[in-house]
Amino acid sequence: MTTTSLFTHTPHPSPKTAEERAVAMQNPGFGKVFTDHMVVMTWTEEKGWHKGEVKARAPFAIDPAASVLHYAQEIFEGMKAYRTKDGIVLFRPDQNASRMALSAERMAMPAIPEDLFIQAVEELVRVDADWVPEGDGSLYLRPFMFASENFLGVRPSLEYIFCVIASPVGAYFKGGYQAVTVWTSEHYTRAAPGGTGAAKCGGNYASSLVAQAEATKNGCDQVVFLDAVEHRWIEELGGMNVCFVMDDNTLVTPPLGGTILPGITRNSILTLAKEAGMKVEERPYSFEEWKNDAQSGKLRETFACGTAAVVAGIGTVRYRGGEFAIGNSGDGEVTAKLRAKLVGIQRGEVEDTHGWVRTVSL
Ligand code: PLP
Ligand code: COI
Repeated sequence: MTTTSLFTHTPHPSPKTAEERAVAMQNPGFGKVFTDHMVVMTWTEEKGWHKGEVKARAPFAIDPAASVLHYAQEIFEGMKAYRTKDGIVLFRPDQNASRMALSAERMAMPAIPEDLFIQAVEELVRVDADWVPEGDGSLYLRPFMFASENFLGVRPSLEYIFCVIASPVGAYFKGGYQAVTVWTSEHYTRAAPGGTGAAKCGGNYASSLVAQAEATKNGCDQVVFLDAVEHRWIEELGGMNVCFVMDDNTLVTPPLGGTILPGITRNSILTLAKEAGMKVEERPYSFEEWKNDAQSGKLRETFACGTAAVVAGIGTVRYRGGEFAIGNSGDGEVTAKLRAKLVGIQRGEVEDTHGWVRTVSL
């Protein structure tokens, strides 16, 4: 065992061989294959964050009374490491760190200092660097934190575990970068004003699953949520933000107002769109407008954006009363251009003029 900085290192006694790893990474899909190690850290009131460990990925032994199992005090992040010609890089990890802190605050959990969060993520990327795919793939990183105190009363836990795991991934959607079909949920909503919509907490996803199942039953890839008050305004997808491209070179996207996740991809795309000369409007956009604009041709394209899915064109929209197509139902021109720019920056092929890319020292 060696110690560097805050983290002790206990290497996996029998990591996957290069051959086993190559087989596992051949066609990894999304979130099914995991690397050899994990990073774990503990928080107590007395000691704060301590006991940082880099060790073999293994199950946790948690008590049946651990409060996460009862009251779902859990938050997470999603980010990727890319293999570029200059080494392995992370994309805007400071943004994941600060969003994790905001999620923690909303869920009455202790914040992780941003530099400690980034250090923990980099520890895992370093130890499992061989798992960062070449080519189109990337290493999806999942930092998360949960309440680990054994106590059944309802109050914030006094103990937490923070962990980072990693999974080599390909495209999120089965069809790769083909335009996807989405289901608009008229009944189920994701987040109400004053709720937890802007936090990346597991509970938001638990409550979205029944709507996602409805989407799947209707042959759709993802669910689109409308607002919880009027069931009228488009909010976001189950795991992505959404943007609309108009015929006058305007990009419209729902505003951040506490009920949707402030996506890092969304923020990056808005910046790139402005730089490309587009007018960007963060404003409420209703399902009715979406349908009418798609039919009149005022709306040219719609795309979903997020770390897992990157930028995915939406070709068809289904809802209880029918369906409508967007543009030519395929991947739109602006969608493809913005995706190429973003992916180019992430992969070190387009100049990073914003300081978004951070190289991990190996
Ligand atoms: N909205 C939801 C509900 C998400 O789960 C995600 C993915 O993390 C996003 C939006 C996009 O966020 P980001 O671009 O930071 O990955
Ligand atoms: C991500 O993009 O990181 C998410 O958490 C969304 C989920 C669909 C995997």
